[in-house]
Amino acid sequence: MKKEFKIAYEVIASRNDLSDTEKKLYDAAFEARKNAYAAYSDFKVGCALLLDNGEIITGSNQENAAYPSGLCAERTAIFWTSANYPNAKILKMFVIGSPSGSVSPVPIPPCGACRQSILEYEARQKDPIEIYFSSIEGEIIRAACIRDLLPFSFDGSYL
Ligand code: THU
Repeated sequence: MKKEFKIAYEVIASRNDLSDTEKKLYDAAFEARKNAYAAYSDFKVGCALLLDNGEIITGSNQENAAYPSGLCAERTAIFWTSANYPNAKILKMFVIGSPSGSVSPVPIPPCGACRQSILEYEARQKDPIEIYFSSIEGEIIRAACIRDLLPFSFDGSYL
């Protein structure tokens, strides 16, 4: 028997087409990207989270000479949030990535490891985390929840 996943997502033409709240989050991720420490890849990523207490938390990728010791922008932001606001829910996450030199308008999606980490918090808070991702220009992709970006996801319910 053949089955398939259908994944819904939206394509937003540019920052101009975002709501005011979304624009704030976009701008926070854009600014956070500037603090990326991308000494080895030169690929800079900024992430901004909107919490249910109204706060915006940001993160950026932090690299290391021992490459796997570095961390992506998304995990920098969600781990800090959970460490400091363990009871807050994450409503939205914006991710903006691009090499520091050449600019491409192709939206940069969260990597697999980050999707798995985001899923943990989505499952924990029992409410979806809306995911937005883009380059530093061009279209923005919006998904209703991280589970939509991680078919056949593994979570704590299997343990
Ligand atoms: N990176 C992120 O920060 N988030 C992602 O979802 C993809 C990759 C970072 C990790 C590394 O510092 C650089 O981008 C190149 O892979």
